[in-house]
Amino acid sequence: MNANTMPRRALFILLPLLLAAAVSAQAQSTAKPTAAGKWLDKRGHAPIHGDAAAGQTKSEVCRACHGQDGNTPVPTFPNLGGQRADFLYWELIELKHGYRYQSPMTEQLAPLSDQDVRDLAAFFASQPLAHAHDASADPAAIELGERIFHSGDAQRGVPPCQGCHGTNADGIAQRPGWPILQGQHPAYLAARLRAYRDGDPPNSSNDFIMNGVARGLDDAAIDGLAAWLVSRGGTQHQ
Ligand code: HEC
Ligand code: HEC
Repeated sequence: MNANTMPRRALFILLPLLLAAAVSAQAQSTAKPTAAGKWLDKRGHAPIHGDAAAGQTKSEVCRACHGQDGNTPVPTFPNLGGQRADFLYWELIELKHGYRYQSPMTEQLAPLSDQDVRDLAAFFASQPLAHAHDASADPAAIELGERIFHSGDAQRGVPPCQGCHGTNADGIAQRPGWPILQGQHPAYLAARLRAYRDGDPPNSSNDFIMNGVARGLDDAAIDGLAAWLVSRGGTQHQ
């Protein structure tokens, strides 16, 4: 064995180990603290009611991150203004009780009562939907997003989004717990879709639906959907 073959042979032996170590390090770095199979059953609940005026007073602690009326300039934080109260309430319950992962929200919500959460949901729902408008993306990406939103992608098993989120992405009346997507930051929408696609552990019964939907979305589809939604502005509320 000479000095040249030794390292090479050692590398052949080590390579599988290095790869295994790299894969496991990657798995560890992307793994989230898990609530091991814990998910919230959102089925069959009565509509929620809250006091929007009381919620406004209680929303002071939320402003730094979500803006005064629930519409934040931070593109990776969600807009809350004009969102369905039921959706907001149940997301807050998920966050408060640690069903959602690694969120700065859990700490914020710890001291709040159930009535506080209802009032906050009612307040943000009563605020205007964001009017973000940006049609500067590649027209082909916008067109792809519109096609998937309205027609789905049968070959990849993606159902049309409009069936559950409304023709104009402004929700459907008979499902108050399902979110409006119109007016949401594209970066937040895309991040949520990637998390669903990449198999983030579901936080609720509804997440199982979106895990199934997102499985067939590639990056171009996700970016196209986000680009189409923001290209229309947030004014299509009906
Ligand atoms: C320190 C910044 C911060 C503060 C303060 C904060 N939030 Fe959040 N909020 C976030 C972030 C970041 C997310 C996205 C969480 C995630 O993806 O896990 C979020 C998510 C949410 C969501 C889920 C929205 C969706 O579309 O899924 C709701 C509802 C919400 N916040 C309401 C509130 C309310 C009500 C308060 C005040 C009691 C508040 N937040 C205070 C940063 C904050
Ligand atoms: C069969 C019904 C259904 C279909 C089809 C569907 N969704 Fe959803 N979607 C839901 C439900 C229900 C939720 C709420 C999840 C929860 O409660 O946490 C949701 C949540 C989302 C969210 C997270 C919103 C937020 O503020 O956190 C995004 C983004 C989203 N859907 C995008 C899409 C896109 C894009 C499509 C089409 C490719 C689509 N959905 C198709 C039912 C559906």
